[in-house]
Amino acid sequence: MKKLVIVTLLGLLPVLSWASSGHTQLDHIDIDLNNKASLQRGFKYFANYCFSCHGAAYSRFSRVGADLGISSDLLKQEFIFTRDEIGKRNKPGALMTVAMPHRYATSSFGTVPPDLSLVVRSRSADWVYTYLRSFYLDASRPLGVNNIVFPNVGMPHVLWELQGWQAKAEHSAAVAETADAHEAAPASSEEGNQVVTHGNGLYLAVPGELSGFEYNAVVYDIVNFMTYLSEPGQQKRKLIGFWVMGFLGIFFILAYLLKKEFWKDVH
Ligand code: HEC
Repeated sequence: MKKLVIVTLLGLLPVLSWASSGHTQLDHIDIDLNNKASLQRGFKYFANYCFSCHGAAYSRFSRVGADLGISSDLLKQEFIFTRDEIGKRNKPGALMTVAMPHRYATSSFGTVPPDLSLVVRSRSADWVYTYLRSFYLDASRPLGVNNIVFPNVGMPHVLWELQGWQAKAEHSAAVAETADAHEAAPASSEEGNQVVTHGNGLYLAVPGELSGFEYNAVVYDIVNFMTYLSEPGQQKRKLIGFWVMGFLGIFFILAYLLKKEFWKDVH
C-alpha cells in the first residue's frame, strides 16, 4: 500500500511542478515562412534593434539575403551595421556575429546576451512572441524593467519607443515614478490607460509610437524572421520532401507493374 502511494505521488510530480511553474500564458503566433515581405521586414527590425547586443552566428548575411531576395547592395546599405574585430564594417559574406565584448556585456546587463540563432527552437515561437510583448516597468530592477515570461530579465526593453511602457495592474503608483525616470510622456489619466494588452495582466501605462495592433505586427515579423533563422533550409527541405515522396509514388507504380509482368506466367 505504502509503495502504491509513493508511486502515485511520483507519478504526480510533473503535474505538481507544472502547477507551481506560474500562470503565464503564452500568446500563439501563426508562423508563415512563405510571407517573404514579413521575413524581410523582420530582418530589418532585427538588424536595427537586436544586432547591437545579440549575434546570430550560425548564419551569414549573404545566405539570408539570398533566401529572402535581398540584393548584396541593399544588404550593405540597410542591413549590415555590425563590425569585425578590427572595426571594419562586415561584408555580406560575414557571419552574423556580434562585436560587443563579453566583459562589457556582463558589466552592463549582468550577463552576456545569448546568440539568437536557435532561440525559437529552444524556447518556441510562442514564447519569443509573448516575451517581446511582455516587458513592464518595475522600479525594483536595475534597468527599471522586468518581463512576465522571463522574470528578472537582464535585457532592457529595446522596443520601448514603438510599444511604449506597460505596467502591471497592481504597480500603478511605482509606475508613474519609473515612467518619469525614463523621460517618457507622463501617463495621462490612469483610468483611460487601463487597457489590458494581453492575458498576462499588463496595461499600457505610457503609449509608444505604434498602436498595440501595429506593435504586435512588428513583433510578428521579428519572430517570423527568427523562426526562419532557426532553420533556414526548412522551406527547401519540405519541397525536397514532396519531390521524394512523388518519386517514390511513381516508382511504386512502376515496380508493381514490373512485378505483375514477372509473375504473370508463374502458377
Ligand atoms: C541592449 C542589449 C540588448 C538588445 C539590443 C537586445 N537584447 Fe535580447 N537580451 C539581452 C540580454 C542581456 C539578454 C539576457 C537576459 C538574461 O539572461 O537575463 C537577452 C535575452 C534575450 C532573449 C532570451 C534568450 C534566452 O533564451 O534566454 C531573447 C529571445 C532576446 N533577448 C531577443 C531579443 C530581440 C528579438 C531583440 C531585438 C528586438 C533583442 N533581444 C535586443 C540584451 C539585449
